[in-house]
Amino acid sequence: MTDTKKSPQGEWSSHSAFIMAATGSAVGLGNIWKFPYITGENGGGAFVLVYLLCVALIGIPIMMSETLMGRRGRHNPVTTMESLTAEAKADEHWHYLGWMGIIAGILILSYYSVIAGWASAYVLKAFTGSFFDADAAAVKQLFADFIASPVQLAFWHTAFMLATMWIVKQGVNNGLEKALRWLMPSLFVLLILLVGYAMTTPSYFQGLHFLFTPDFSKLTGNSILTAMGQAFFSLGIGMGAVMVYGAYLPKKISITETVVVVSIADTVVALLSGIIIFPIVFSNGLQPDSGPGLIFETLPIAFGSMIGGWLFGILFFVMLVLAALSSSVALIEPAVAWLIETRGFNREKASLYAGSVTWLIGFASIFSFNSWSGFKIFGQTLFELLDYVTANLMLPIGGFAIAMFAGWIMVRGHSEQELDLPNPLTYQIWQLLIKYLAPAAVFLVFLDVVGVL
Ligand code: TRP
Repeated sequence: MTDTKKSPQGEWSSHSAFIMAATGSAVGLGNIWKFPYITGENGGGAFVLVYLLCVALIGIPIMMSETLMGRRGRHNPVTTMESLTAEAKADEHWHYLGWMGIIAGILILSYYSVIAGWASAYVLKAFTGSFFDADAAAVKQLFADFIASPVQLAFWHTAFMLATMWIVKQGVNNGLEKALRWLMPSLFVLLILLVGYAMTTPSYFQGLHFLFTPDFSKLTGNSILTAMGQAFFSLGIGMGAVMVYGAYLPKKISITETVVVVSIADTVVALLSGIIIFPIVFSNGLQPDSGPGLIFETLPIAFGSMIGGWLFGILFFVMLVLAALSSSVALIEPAVAWLIETRGFNREKASLYAGSVTWLIGFASIFSFNSWSGFKIFGQTLFELLDYVTANLMLPIGGFAIAMFAGWIMVRGHSEQELDLPNPLTYQIWQLLIKYLAPAAVFLVFLDVVGVL
């Protein structure tokens, strides 16, 4: 098969470049910030088990589908869906899937950037020695004072959005690829070091027990939905980010292999993060369900007391910000690619427009942590609502649609050719998962939440 059709945005320079970019998109705040705090809120082990099942049985097959659809369509999600529907002679309404992805990406990035701003602020706090010898109460107070200030949150959110726009302006295969090559391995090494610290805490085994011993009485319909949403969020699937990255993927690269490697890396980072956080939580008498501030209320205790903690604290938050940056560029890329390909913008202008809109929406989340914290819709602050609607509703719906499209609408020969699996049996298994299991699972979870089951 010759590489006749290329994306107008260029291509990844090599196999490892794509693996790096896809890992960069997957690994981010979702693993290190979100996974521990929602695991804490949803009771631990059983939630983790559901999450792992969702990654393996729903996430991986959908990620394969999203990548292959992107590579076949070779454009932003809207144009890709248009060309795929034309090719399959399907209903043209499918291009709304592309639209939903672009919107979901912007909405997610609006609050993602606020949290990445917290991580950026913590680089400075680590540097100035704010955590030095701090106990749990002091660290909690430091965080409370910080998020009470809309000005500080706005400053760091702005800084992070500017950095995102600056990277996006350079295009997919400049700079980002190179930075990720050392970032991912270093992040991994640092996490292992922190696991070493967690092992020295008195409640190490209590932390592990919380994370890995399922107590199914803690599962509710909503926590199952949250676990499924987290599988989508953490892998970065269901909204077209993987579709655009797939569009930049040369034909000769194996989609299946890449997806499996990326999913494993992503899951390992999330689990490591949990293995680090929960022992610190229990060793310091903290509550696992304290919410989005969890890592900011726990890790500084470790950095404040461990040997070399000053340096490790700085390095950790720097890497967290960089990991967030490599995800934020993926979240905004569908919108940027759409502006370039259909509105004739150049990259610079596209990233300025998409970035500015995202930046503005971000203020809703900023104020929900302070001035507007009492303003609730369905009992949720604006930040919580944005997170719920995007991660728990839009991504699973997007994933469901992707599975249906790849399984039922796409011409069989096309998906077979894109996946290029070594034997017919693996293709059959993928078909089974994508046609029946993944859509049915998403559907059942939704039914459960609305109370039909
Ligand atoms: N997966 C990233 C994280 O875990 C965030 C992210 C990147 C994402 N691209 C996405 C989330 C697409 C949802 C959809 O931090």
